[in-house]
Amino acid sequence: MKEDILKVLLSEEEIAEIIKNLGAKISKDYKDKNLLMVSVLKGSVVFMADLMRAIDINCQIDFMCVSSYGSGTESSGRVKIIKDLDIDLNGFDLLLVEDILDSGVTLSNIKEILLTRNPKSVKICTFLDKPARRKANIVADYVGADVPDEFVVGYGLDYDEKYRNLPYLGVLKPSVYEK
Ligand code: IMP
Ligand code: MG
Repeated sequence: MKEDILKVLLSEEEIAEIIKNLGAKISKDYKDKNLLMVSVLKGSVVFMADLMRAIDINCQIDFMCVSSYGSGTESSGRVKIIKDLDIDLNGFDLLLVEDILDSGVTLSNIKEILLTRNPKSVKICTFLDKPARRKANIVADYVGADVPDEFVVGYGLDYDEKYRNLPYLGVLKPSVYEK
């Protein structure tokens, strides 16, 4: 597994610092709100688990899973809900927790769907942002770190469902996906 990593982008220590800062900011901003953290599976599961423990105000959590329609590597711009939320969003201040904001197509679709359910507010917290690749008109409210236009894995992010369990964030050797 480790032999497939070209270089470490964020070490475990750097990630811990990022989480601490995000948690403090979110705790302050949501002090008088009704925070519901929504994790978009599966990539954000590690980030979610760490981030929620860095938040020191009352909050609830829920999970959803989507897949994009369309063939090839470009998503068509529509998502299909594979697993929906269990909670009625009425009255909640939603924080969408994502692993990485790439084209932004997935998250802008999810946001649009959830807005129809009358939450009080919807914001986005992404562990990573790849602004160079943005297609959809969407901006994250909280960003852990910007990353260059390289394929990254670890800390929940996968390539072909692998590498999610790496405790740090690394750049995958192109030879792995060019095989
Ligand atoms: P978007 O709709 O293009 O923003 O898609 C975002 C999703 O693509 C993320 O939730 C990831 O699952 C996946 N993704 C995008 N870039 C990477 C990457 O560098 N490594 C791993 N997964 C990625
Ligand atoms: Mg993925």
